[in-house]
Amino acid sequence: MKRIFVTGGAGFIGSAFIHLILRETSDVEIVNFDALTYAGNPENLTGVDETRHTFVKGDICDKAAVLAALPDDCEAIFNFAAESHVDRSISSADEFVLTNVLGTQVLLDAARARNVRRFIQVSTDEVMGSLPDESNLYFTEISPLKPNSPYAASKAAAEHFVRAARETFGLDTVITRCGNNYGPRQFPEKLIPLMISNAMNDEPLPVYGDGRNVRDWIYVEDHARAIWLAFERGKAGEIYNIGARNEQYNIDVVKAILDALGKPHSLIKFVADRLGHDRRYAIEADKSETELGWKPLTNWEEGLQKTIEWYQENQEWVAHIRNGAYRDYYQKMYGASLK
Ligand code: NAD
Ligand code: TYD
Repeated sequence: MKRIFVTGGAGFIGSAFIHLILRETSDVEIVNFDALTYAGNPENLTGVDETRHTFVKGDICDKAAVLAALPDDCEAIFNFAAESHVDRSISSADEFVLTNVLGTQVLLDAARARNVRRFIQVSTDEVMGSLPDESNLYFTEISPLKPNSPYAASKAAAEHFVRAARETFGLDTVITRCGNNYGPRQFPEKLIPLMISNAMNDEPLPVYGDGRNVRDWIYVEDHARAIWLAFERGKAGEIYNIGARNEQYNIDVVKAILDALGKPHSLIKFVADRLGHDRRYAIEADKSETELGWKPLTNWEEGLQKTIEWYQENQEWVAHIRNGAYRDYYQKMYGASLK
């Protein structure tokens, strides 16, 4: 059995990764270490093979807890745990510095202390800032780091610590940088699940600014598969950009969701723009395709349809979230602009 340590495995991408790996391998055992913040949800793990999955509730900033949970003879740490929402980082950045920066360093130290064979840092294209509108420029692995939001700054800082662990101590590290994910179990603070859940409830869909910001969307399972291949085939010390060559204007994403649900475009409500709103993300994924032998398997139309169906079939999951602390968040974030 290969033992791996996954942080943030009760969140959106981490849980998709755990579902995929337990389904597609028979010789991997996972310790899933997650603090269960507002974004972590044990329901996301329903149906995984419990004989090869151990859940431990803990904070990645807590060194003793990490060391206690890390299995002996650990093949890899996959660090998904993070504060992940840009809007929340604009309201308050402290938690982003703690979890995303300090937490990553704690895990790097634990990896060294226990001779973990590889450290995979799940990073984001947002560390590279924003590309000009409708240009033919793309993010590559050598694009400069120019984070614009506190979230992106914290993820960029984390990458520097990963690099430093490689250069200073020779730790075997790999960094993956992916674009915007969509799919089942994404917390409805992010664009696609927020719009699906509002549309299903006939509530207004808040589109920031002119709706012409571009994001490069990837189905979550394609991202999860790329991370696994980065672990199996990636070169130590390297960075791999992951993207499905799927740039979409926000407004087109929102209209596609309304059309798929048979709801009117009149639900769209343009609201004040996000501060420092990055205009365009677009990823050149050549290196992952060539060196990892990876390519996305789900196209945009199919992925969006599957995602919408998942939210339709899992309305209880959405209702549990919408009934909790989410209501205060939503009110603070959108209350005034949607009146
Ligand atoms: P998410 O917010 O859905 O989940 C984050 C998970 O981390 C939650 O389960 C939460 O409980 C856990 N967590 C938070 N703080 C923790 C702490 N201190 N200790 C232990 N666990 C903690 O996020 P996601 O969308 O699944 O993103 C996962 C990773 O992928 C993040 O590192 C994010 O930066 C990166 N990423 C996300 C996207 C995207 O589109 N969502 C794109 C590229 C990269
Ligand atoms: P988001 O899902 O927050 O991801 P990120 O900011 O990490 O790219 O947002 C995706 C895009 O959708 C981004 O351009 C901001 C925009 N957006 C809205 O227009 N309205 C919303 O309510 C949200 C949450 C996002």
